[in-house]
Amino acid sequence: MCAETTRDKGFASTVKGAGSIPAKGTGAALKREAEARARGGGQQAVAGSDSAGVTADSPYIQVDRTLQRCQYSQDALIEVLHTAQETFGFLSEDTMTYIAHELKLPLSWVYGVASFYHHFNLKPQGEHSCNICMGTACFVKRAGDIVETLEREFQVKAGETTADGKLSINIVRCLGNCGLAPMVILDGTVHARQTPESLLDECRKVVQGRGPEPREGGNK
Ligand code: FES
Repeated sequence: MCAETTRDKGFASTVKGAGSIPAKGTGAALKREAEARARGGGQQAVAGSDSAGVTADSPYIQVDRTLQRCQYSQDALIEVLHTAQETFGFLSEDTMTYIAHELKLPLSWVYGVASFYHHFNLKPQGEHSCNICMGTACFVKRAGDIVETLEREFQVKAGETTADGKLSINIVRCLGNCGLAPMVILDGTVHARQTPESLLDECRKVVQGRGPEPREGGNK
């Protein structure tokens, strides 16, 4: 997969202005900036994380692992985008900026490839998003029961959005912190060691506009 080249598939013609918008920032500074934006901007914030830099709960752990496995090859762009979407449920501008920087590609190139394929979602599907990890560790700790409970409560299938557009339920693969299983990202905030009952309560709160209550010491 890492050897798959984007250029070989003729993407250049689909990239508007490719090469004209270089990724901004340098090294770790941009990484911290992207993660800080993600935390503050409602994508994959992590409750209790350090505002100054990368933490063990960094939402980019899985993306970083794919980047490292592919040795930061630009040819691995599609695989990295796949990882990002499977992790976050969609590709935000922050995520694409981060990937563009790490692969030393123009942001316009990354955006062009992401927007070319229907597989990639550039926007979250509902007002609230609930990404449930179904990796092995989370699965054996009742992640499937969590999914069934939410589907029954909100009358929606996993991977879809409720009829009123309030909540999208997405299945994602290992989020990279299996010690917190079963792990869920609800509106960008990590919820660790959930039960069907605890997550249902959290989802009801966000859908009803009450918001999650502060949790002592971070996650339960
Ligand atoms: S399997 Fe869920 S975080 Fe790894």
